[in-house]
Amino acid sequence: MNILVINGPNLNMLGIREPDIYGSDTYEGLCKMISAHAESIGVTAEIYQSNHEGYLVDKIQAAYQTADGIVINPAAYTHTSVALLDALKAVGIPAVEVHISDVSKREDFRQISFVRNYCEKTIAGHGFRGYLEAMDYLKERTKK
Ligand code: DQA
Repeated sequence: MNILVINGPNLNMLGIREPDIYGSDTYEGLCKMISAHAESIGVTAEIYQSNHEGYLVDKIQAAYQTADGIVINPAAYTHTSVALLDALKAVGIPAVEVHISDVSKREDFRQISFVRNYCEKTIAGHGFRGYLEAMDYLKERTKK
């Protein structure tokens, strides 16, 4: 099983950006955690990060017929991007939305999620662990 893990803008700044909200672990640490978990559950994980909406759309499109599941933290584009929602709908790959912080308890402008209209599940506020839970969900789902 191939899982594509997509991270949106500013997530490359993890460890530096707002540690009170996102913690002090780095983006590199997140990638290592995802790769180790992929190995432990017997899947392959490709990890991608971009600060650019169009590149994220390109990556989702490129996953067509190659990835079996998508874990996506669109970061700020969660709250603005119809393009990411449409890209997910276009490729039709099962997807889980992840947020490190609990967006439901934050500002009003973070209460909208466009990708949520497509994603089978949303995991928010579980820190980096949320990515691993999303991978577990996608793995389990293939057994059904
Ligand atoms: C985030 C929450 C978003 O509102 C924010 O713009 C991010 C990160 C999270 O992982 O908690 O950049 O997606």
